[in-house]
Amino acid sequence: MNNSLKILYSQKAIRRRVENIAKQISSHYPSSELILVGILKGSFIFLADLVRALNVPVIIDFVRLASYGSSTHSSGKVQILKDLEISIEGKDVIIVEDIIDTGLTINFLKEELSKRNPRSLKICALIDKISRRKVEIEADYVGIKMKKDYFLVGYGLDFSEQYRNLPGIFTLIP
Ligand code: PRP
Repeated sequence: MNNSLKILYSQKAIRRRVENIAKQISSHYPSSELILVGILKGSFIFLADLVRALNVPVIIDFVRLASYGSSTHSSGKVQILKDLEISIEGKDVIIVEDIIDTGLTINFLKEELSKRNPRSLKICALIDKISRRKVEIEADYVGIKMKKDYFLVGYGLDFSEQYRNLPGIFTLIP
């Protein structure tokens, strides 16, 4: 299959947004024990750039989640495949996502992590596809608010595990 890629956000454009989020987070958490929780796999590049742009100390951990059903018709049921390795009790926590689409993944994780009694729990997403929501959930830090439903690849986002390594964000045209 031949797919063509159309650039939507260059490396430079993404960097500006990441730096902007990092600035907000750094000013909101000047002296707390901040834990960033990345959702694998998609968030790994965003998280790596974000933590290097912060000027406050952070601890990093990851979860890996799986949702049942096909990618286009999610049932809304999410399962933890790999859990956190550290306790978040009494800590300030930010969940880091590459993209929020239906909101089902982040909604599940937020509910799950709330049960562990963090001091605070916020959501940070590089891309927020607001029009696709199936559950009401809002991110606290957003890099790009996207109204159009583009199929996105690059900067961590994949199509059948390909294209995650592209430095920009592209739309995939079949
Ligand atoms: C993507 C993305 C989010 C989720 C968002 O992950 O990284 O975690 O989908 O979708 P939602 O808001 O509709 O729940 P995916 O399941 O493709 O796995 P990946 O991160 O390993 O690519």
